Amino acid sequence: MRSLGFAVTALGIVALALMAVSATAEEEAALPAGHKEFVALKCNMCHAVSSVGIEAKTKSEKMFGGDLVGLGEEWDAKALAAYVKQESEKDGEQHKKGFKGSDEELQALVDWLLEQKAEG
Ligand code: HEC
Repeated sequence: MRSLGFAVTALGIVALALMAVSATAEEEAALPAGHKEFVALKCNMCHAVSSVGIEAKTKSEKMFGGDLVGLGEEWDAKALAAYVKQESEKDGEQHKKGFKGSDEELQALVDWLLEQKAEG
């Protein structure tokens, strides 16, 4: 009987785990393309996007590139794309990291970034 109880518990755990996995998969599928690009291209290594709860992974102050909200106040889409692609400079410096994606991906990323506003 003891082993039956164990089997039932184990099944319950597996079912719960499966539910958790499918919920995350659905949530991810619903994210805007730019958000997915941002994470896939590891921009979140060095940047936060607080409006959607993205935190920067780095603990190094040298790498940290800031919270990318409210960019629309300073940038338009063309200028932002050029900077991310390292084709232009900000304060006399190129962006730290080259962009490896396609033009469509860059467009989706930039459009999404420009929509992010600081909360409150
Ligand atoms: C290795 C760390 C690193 C990675 C990875 C990185 N960045 Fe940056 N980024 C920085 C630093 C450092 C700055 C300079 C911060 C500044 O001067 O405001 C910066 C600046 C920026 C800025 C200008 C911010 C502003 O306030 O004007 C944008 C936009 C930006 N990064 C977008 C991206 C995107 C998009 C990606 C992913 C494709 C990315 N970054 C990946 C480090 C990084």
